[in-house]
Amino acid sequence: MGGDITRSHEWTALAKHHEELAGRHLRELFAEDPGRAGRMTLTAGDLLLDYSKHRVTSETVDLLVALAERAGLRERVEAMFRGDHINVSEDRAVLHVALRTPPGAALVVDGQDVTADVHEVLGRMSAFADRVRSREWRGATGQPITTVVNIGIGGSDLGPAMAYEALRDYADAGVQARFVSNIDPADITGNLAGLDPATTLFVISSKTFTTLETLTNAKVARDWLVGALGEDAVARHFVAVSTNAAKVAEFGIDTANMFGFWDWVGGRYSYDGAIGLSLMLAIGPERFREMLAGFHVIDEHFRSAPFAANMPVLLGLLGIWYSNFFGAETRAVLPYSQRLHRFPAYLQQLTMESNGKSVGADGEPVTAATGEIFWGEPGTNGQHAFYQLLHQGTRLVPADFIGFAEPFEDREGMHDLLNANLFAQTSALAFGRTAEEIAGEGTPAGLVPHKVMPGNRPTSTILAPKLTPFTLGQLVALYEHIVFVEGTVWGIDSFDQWGVELGKKMALDLAPALTAEEPPVAFPDPSTERLVRAYRELRGR
Ligand code: F6P
Repeated sequence: MGGDITRSHEWTALAKHHEELAGRHLRELFAEDPGRAGRMTLTAGDLLLDYSKHRVTSETVDLLVALAERAGLRERVEAMFRGDHINVSEDRAVLHVALRTPPGAALVVDGQDVTADVHEVLGRMSAFADRVRSREWRGATGQPITTVVNIGIGGSDLGPAMAYEALRDYADAGVQARFVSNIDPADITGNLAGLDPATTLFVISSKTFTTLETLTNAKVARDWLVGALGEDAVARHFVAVSTNAAKVAEFGIDTANMFGFWDWVGGRYSYDGAIGLSLMLAIGPERFREMLAGFHVIDEHFRSAPFAANMPVLLGLLGIWYSNFFGAETRAVLPYSQRLHRFPAYLQQLTMESNGKSVGADGEPVTAATGEIFWGEPGTNGQHAFYQLLHQGTRLVPADFIGFAEPFEDREGMHDLLNANLFAQTSALAFGRTAEEIAGEGTPAGLVPHKVMPGNRPTSTILAPKLTPFTLGQLVALYEHIVFVEGTVWGIDSFDQWGVELGKKMALDLAPALTAEEPPVAFPDPSTERLVRAYRELRGR
């Protein structure tokens, strides 16, 4: 749609409905409607979503779906899958869904057969991964590769790092992965510690191949390798993932060992393509393809399921409901899986770099809050840290609980205990405990108010059979499309990230002031000038 969605009839209807519903408690909603839990459960692929513990009724869902329709969501989904240039500020198609389209599907965008290109790169990645994993590809001294170090940042780090942690039990060929991202030298120093250059392969991952952190770390890695094995070893120990062949060659990596992607893949949407090379080297091409199949299942669901039964659509609309009508600022993501400990960090870039915008796609200021703040930690650790605020604090923090039925290992029934905690938490958050219930247990009167659990705290529960490549792909695609739904309703461009550029440029401009003999005369502001002077003094400069 064009225009301001907050002025639409659908938005106004939701605002009115919110006034009616805001005072109602989940206890009442459940008491009134015995079929609620069953009706508010749906599946997509292997994922089961229970959204009955949300502060919604069937009417809310209808009104939210009407809002999505008003925002032109259906047409916009098709525009994405068709390869229209929906990333308007960069005039690009947005086609991460093509990274997991099965071979043979016809998709020609801007004159290019996108599916064929994707499968050509996947084929090259697979052939390379097979060579490394079978020990045919060897380092310069003839030893096999046992460690892959991915050097990249943002989308060129968070995706493969998160997925490697999630799936490392599938690393079956004696190839482990490490991830270096930060310009803080501690990162590369720590990650190189204990490694043998002769058995280490560096994957330099950067869409642009101009990112300061990545190129600086790559140079340190190169010096480390050349110092041990000589200049000629670089070809056997460095490969690149990038869209920029010229810069890769300039760095000294043979472009025959470069795996490409395209400007229609955003960095934060890229780990299911060549940016996932380090993951593929560890878990193998077959498992990687199972992960892609998982992504694709949710893509199909997103594209075809009716909105009211469409998991990403519903979860995206619930994000709108809490952000724009309840005034919630954040959404907690709480995976009850230690292996998903990097999932919240991964989601932070995916969601916040995408939807942290204050002008619409048309360049006009937005008129409603955008960009939920995503954060979280795995359960049960979070329970002993910040859940107090979730249960009894003054802020409303909707939360996504994610659990898996089958464990990898189960010692002393620990896995069941883990999930008992998940289910208990969502129940306590929803239903709480009243003053009467607490007093009825013989609690001293003065303590009762402290022990009251208000409840009415909304949660989604997402349950999958087991954490596998297939289910991980489904989970990630789910959140990618949630971002899309929210961005569409807010009318913003979820696929650019202009806001990160200024800080990068200023850091480069400031760097000489920190190191040079004489500080420059022009500081950006008086506070920064004082800080830089204090820093130089501490550094004895
Ligand atoms: O800091 C912003 C950003 O451009 C991200 O969008 C991107 O994922 C990251 O930097 C890394 O970029 P590149 O892959 O080009 O090195």
